[in-house]
Amino acid sequence: MSQTIPSTPSILSTLGIQNSNPGAWVGPEALSSGGAELSSVSPIDRATLAKIRTASSADYQTTVARLEKAFQTWRLVPAPIRGNVVREIGDALRARKKELGAMVTLESGKILAEGEGEIQEAIDIADFSVGLSRQLYGKTMHSERPTHRMYEQWHPLGIIGVITAFNFPAAVWAWNAMLAAVCGDVVLWKPSELTPLTALAMHRICAEVAARHGHPDIFGLIIGDGPALGQEIAKDARIPLVSATGSCRMGRAVGEAVAKRIGRSLLELGGNNAVLVLKDADLDLVVRSTVFGAVGTAGQRCTTTRRLLVEAEIEGALVERMAKAYQQVPIGNPLQAGVLMGPLINERAVAQYFAAIEAARSQGGEVVCGASLVEGLSSKQYVRPTIIRSKKVLPISHEETFAPILYVTACKDLEEALAFNNAVPQGLSSAVFTRNIQSAERFLSHAGSDCGIANVNLGTSGAEIGGAFGGEKDTGGGREAGSDSWKQYMRRQTTTINFGSALPLAQGIKFDIGLS
Ligand code: UN1
Repeated sequence: MSQTIPSTPSILSTLGIQNSNPGAWVGPEALSSGGAELSSVSPIDRATLAKIRTASSADYQTTVARLEKAFQTWRLVPAPIRGNVVREIGDALRARKKELGAMVTLESGKILAEGEGEIQEAIDIADFSVGLSRQLYGKTMHSERPTHRMYEQWHPLGIIGVITAFNFPAAVWAWNAMLAAVCGDVVLWKPSELTPLTALAMHRICAEVAARHGHPDIFGLIIGDGPALGQEIAKDARIPLVSATGSCRMGRAVGEAVAKRIGRSLLELGGNNAVLVLKDADLDLVVRSTVFGAVGTAGQRCTTTRRLLVEAEIEGALVERMAKAYQQVPIGNPLQAGVLMGPLINERAVAQYFAAIEAARSQGGEVVCGASLVEGLSSKQYVRPTIIRSKKVLPISHEETFAPILYVTACKDLEEALAFNNAVPQGLSSAVFTRNIQSAERFLSHAGSDCGIANVNLGTSGAEIGGAFGGEKDTGGGREAGSDSWKQYMRRQTTTINFGSALPLAQGIKFDIGLS
């Protein structure tokens, strides 16, 4: 662990971050008016990294108006040419992967490998989008009428509002923005107030590429403090799609406001993800993947493993192995090589960690390990990963606490484990560990896991971008990133062409007005 830690000033300066930065941008241009000041504070040591002048409502209006105008021309650029711009954006991110990864670490506290992994995720979605730019396929249908042809085509939608959370301050914007850009849309980004500098760095790198290609205004960035700008986006009828990532509470508010104006929303909200462990499972795999799933990112992913539902016969042995593995997790400065767990995002998150543990204890949970702060580190936000064991399902385990707390419950069999898996309000990710194909298929069947993601013999977090990402129930129903998620960023038009000289009507209707 003696490797040199990258210096904060060098990370900030290579990304063009000043001591004080404008918080409203249209492409590479900063808007000048500015609102109140916001500090970006690192969870690593509570040092102020830099300041931001937040976007005012005038900045918001200017940004939306400029994006609206940019859309008029961007939508006319052929999709593969738009793809070429996104290809260069991917290359620009590749060239700055190390610095951007370190920026993510400084602001969010995730370890460097995960910070860089997040930028890799942004690069991956850019690459995916480039290929997609030649594959925005519509179907053709056989018309029931002679000499008629039917098909559907996909058109750009307009301004896409993207509201992102602190825990994936770069990748989640990229999932939305790269797809939106090849689809011919323009993007208005409202990042978390906890990670504004990562947003600023990402935005400037991507906007500069677009500007070089003659499209300076397709990306807008507005940084605010608190929910005001997000509420503005949700209410704004000029924004046909609002993609929002965050808590269920935030998503409900955004979803309601967007629905009120009959806009579309794409919601990616809380998860409460379980791993089911059957008695024929490979326990080495279970331990390794569950430590990554529950402890990685200090338990602050929406895909974090929060519940371990274990067949009773092996529960004792598994808990023992997990507890041993937990003692070995190196906790510390996430910029330092060898560290696997950094701090929680802020003091509020630490308070929520302790409150959940207290609730679990009062509900009859036994704390196996953790449940304390790590003293002597550079902030009071480093907590120990915690395992809580209980005979019955604890009510607190139905809530998502953004912290490294794993609830272990013994189950009679697969059926009971499945029922517990599905009993929570959220429905994002799930996994089963078994060597039995019947059990695995049962878990994946119609009456199996009710989550958007269901894995076999791997954990709940760390999804690739090629699949559609998202979940059911309180998770919001949205799907982002791969597969056919792109369709949400376009409008579908069904077209029928009559190439004959008669006018047959559908459903065999006769409506002859006897014109001669
Ligand atoms: C999130 O936590 O909001 O599957 C996204 C994963 C990551 C994305 C997580 N690829 O864990």
